[in-house]
Amino acid sequence: MDRMAEAAAIPAWDDAGDALFAPLRAPVGMGCSFVLGRVAQSLDGFIATRDGESVWISGPDDLRHTHRLRALSDAIVVGARTIRADNPRLTTRLVAGPSPVRVILDPERRLTEDFRVFQGGPETLLLHGKGSASAGRMGHAHVLAVLRAAEGLDIAAILGVLRERGLRRIFVEGGGVTVSRFLAAGALDRLHVTVAPLVMGGGVPAFPIPPVARLEDGRRFAWTAHRIGADVLFDIPLVRTV
Ligand SMILES: NC(=O)c1ccc[n+]([C@@H]2O[C@H](COP(=O)([O-])OP(=O)(O)OC[C@H]3O[C@@H](n4cnc5c(N)ncnc54)[C@H](OP(=O)(O)O)[C@@H]3O)[C@@H](O)[C@H]2O)c1
Repeated sequence: MDRMAEAAAIPAWDDAGDALFAPLRAPVGMGCSFVLGRVAQSLDGFIATRDGESVWISGPDDLRHTHRLRALSDAIVVGARTIRADNPRLTTRLVAGPSPVRVILDPERRLTEDFRVFQGGPETLLLHGKGSASAGRMGHAHVLAVLRAAEGLDIAAILGVLRERGLRRIFVEGGGVTVSRFLAAGALDRLHVTVAPLVMGGGVPAFPIPPVARLEDGRRFAWTAHRIGADVLFDIPLVRTV
């Protein structure tokens, strides 16, 4: 069974399946990509405590949803701070379907080789900024240099590098800085935000972007809400500009 058929066979948690997943299963044209960003946040907008604890902000159905999104993707992108805080495996352990290629954004090459993603498992790419210390490998990972932008790595260049390697369904899994940079660059086709009935009072923000001075300068989205266990998942279609 191919990746899409396998992932499609995974039962949805309710009847949201088709509305939510049809856009993710749609064919992606040659030379194009489909990019989905995602965060699971508290009611007051945090994705982790100040010390970086984030597992179980949302419930088990939402965690399964994350694994399902992984199974539907060619590549999963995470920022360096998520690797440091969670030491994740980024595999599809909770659903059927293959694990995607893991892509770690670490512009200054600050991560060390002892994290799980560098020790083995699915194919892994470590992207850093051109000009910082370069090497062919970081343990299990291939190391690739990418153009820099005014802030961080150039998102179009990241997507270009992935496309060249045949990776066209891209899942930007976190954390907040990484998803926000893709959003700010106009590089997301879709955003899934799960909101859990939890108030944290502080922590790592879901969307660390410059504050607007006037409400009318904020970005307002259309969304469809789905119940996902005790949480609510907002499915937000976006217009890609990059
Ligand atoms: N609840 C959730 O949905 C969820 C999901 C994932 C992670 N988390 C939690 O979120 C926390 C980390 O989130 P975070 O927002 O602090 O950080 P993050 O997004 O995980 O990582 C941010 C770092 O990644 C690098 N980076 C990301 N995008 C980049 C880009 N376009 N260009 C260049 N560099 C880029 C930068 O590294 P440098 O600083 O080296 O420049 C940046 O500081 C952790 O505690 C983790 O547990 C929560």
